[in-house]
Amino acid sequence: MRIVVVGGGRMGLPLASLFADNGATVTVCDVNSVLVDTINRGLSPYEEPDLDHYIARNVKASRLAATTNTTAAVHNANVVVVIVPAWLTEARDIDYSVLRAASRDIGRGLQPRTLVSYETTVAVGGTRSELVPVLEQESGLKAGVDFFVSFSPERVKANLVLSRLQQTPKIVGGYNTASTQKAVDLYKTYLGAPVTDVISLEAAELAKLAGMLYRDVNIALANELAALSEIVGVDFALVRDAANTDGESRLLLPGIGVGGHCTPVYPHFMINDAIRRGVPQRLSTAARAINDEQPARCVERLERQWKPVNGRAVHILGLGFRPDVKVDTYSTAYPLRDALLARGAVVTLEDPFYSDDDVRAAGFVPAHTGRDRMDAIVLNTAHTAFKEPNFSDWRAHGIEALIDGRNFWNADAVSGAGILYLGIGRDAALSPPNTL
Ligand SMILES: NC(=O)c1ccc[n+]([C@@H]2O[C@H](COP(=O)([O-])OP(=O)(O)OC[C@H]3O[C@@H](n4cnc5c(N)ncnc54)[C@H](O)[C@@H]3O)[C@@H](O)[C@H]2O)c1
Repeated sequence: MRIVVVGGGRMGLPLASLFADNGATVTVCDVNSVLVDTINRGLSPYEEPDLDHYIARNVKASRLAATTNTTAAVHNANVVVVIVPAWLTEARDIDYSVLRAASRDIGRGLQPRTLVSYETTVAVGGTRSELVPVLEQESGLKAGVDFFVSFSPERVKANLVLSRLQQTPKIVGGYNTASTQKAVDLYKTYLGAPVTDVISLEAAELAKLAGMLYRDVNIALANELAALSEIVGVDFALVRDAANTDGESRLLLPGIGVGGHCTPVYPHFMINDAIRRGVPQRLSTAARAINDEQPARCVERLERQWKPVNGRAVHILGLGFRPDVKVDTYSTAYPLRDALLARGAVVTLEDPFYSDDDVRAAGFVPAHTGRDRMDAIVLNTAHTAFKEPNFSDWRAHGIEALIDGRNFWNADAVSGAGILYLGIGRDAALSPPNTL
C-alpha cells in the first residue's frame, strides 16, 4: 500500500508515521520545506510523545519519506489522506482555501482507483460540494466511479496523538458505498483503531461537529451554573460532582474560557451554515457566546469583588490553551488581556513554556511572580509548574487578589496567605474571610 499524507502537521505526521509503522509505504507532502527536510533526516519537528521513535525507525526502513511535490507523490499512490488546516473567514464561515489548494495539487496527480480521504474538520456537505469538484476538475476523473472519496475526521489531541490514534474509534463515511468500503479497509488495516462506519460523507462530517458542539454546550452550561453558584453561595465543584453521580449527567468543568484549534472554531463551521439551511442551531450559538464571554466576565467579577483594575498591575499565568503544551491558538489569554487593558489594567504574563521573547512576540509584557511587583493574578492555564506556588511569597510581593480560572488551587491556602480567592463557581465567601 502506498499512502500519501498531505499535511505533515501535528496531526498528519503522527498519522503518517503510524501508517508506516503498520507496513505501508508513506510519503508526507507539505508546503513547508524545512519540515520536509527534518522528516527526511529522520527527526521529529514536534514535541509529541514517541513521535521521534516512530519517525526515526520508519525513515530508516524507507517506509516514510517527505516531499513538497504533492502532485508527483499522489501520482504513485493508492491512497491520499488530507489533513491540512481549515480556519475561519472574517465572517466566521469556514475558509476552504488551504483545502482547495491541496485538492488542486492532489487532483493533478490523481490516478484511477485511488482513495482520497479527507480528515480536516469541515462543514456538513463541504467535502462533496467544495472539494470533490476540485479533484474532478483537475483530474478529469469522476468521483465514485474512477476514484474514491471518504471523510474520516481526526478526533485526537496533541500530546496524546499516537496512543489515541490507535484507540479512538475511527469514524468513516464515503462518497458512495464503494468509497466507504475502501476507507473502512484502509483504516482497519493501517490504523489499528476500531472503525465506525457511518455510511456517508455528511454523516461523518456531522459526527465530528456534533462531538465538538456537545463539548461546547456542556462547558457553557457548567459556566452558567458556576456563575449562579457564585451568587447563591455554593461551591459548584461539589454541586457538579454530586449531580454527576446519577449516572446520567456528565457536566464538564467550568473555566475562564475555551481555547485551542477546535472547540472555539468548529461550532462556527456549523452555525452560519445551519442558518442558511433554515435550521438555526440556537443552543450551539448561545454556548459559543457564553464561553467567549467568560474572560470578560471574570474581569468584571474581579472588579466587583476586589477593586477597579484601572492602573493596577494584573498578571496572567499561562498563555497555552491547555495545560503543559506550548500551543496558544485561540488561547483565552488574549481576550483576557484585552478585557483587562480595556479597563485600564497594566497587564503582564508568564508561562514556563514560553521565553520572555516568545511572550513579547505573542503581544504580552513578560513579568515573573516572586520577582516583580503585582497587585492581582489571573490563572489562565493549569500548567503543572503553577500547581504549588508560595502564596505567602506572592502576598509579600503585593498580590491582593486572584482569579483561579481553572479551579486549580486550594482556596484555603490562598485565603490563609491573605489573598482574596475567586474561583470559577466559588465565591470568596466560601473561603475563610480574606484579611485585606
Ligand atoms: N491539532 C489538533 O489538536 C487537532 C485535533 C483534531 C483534529 N485536527 C484537524 O487536523 C487539521 C490539521 O491540524 P494540525 O494540528 O495537524 O495542523 P498543523 O498546522 O500542525 O499542520 C498543518 C500542515 O499542513 C501544511 N499545509 C498547509 N497547506 C498545505 C498544502 N496546500 N499542501 C500540503 N501541506 C499543506 C502546513 O505546512 C502544516 O505543516 C485541523 O485543521 C483539524 O481539522 C487537529
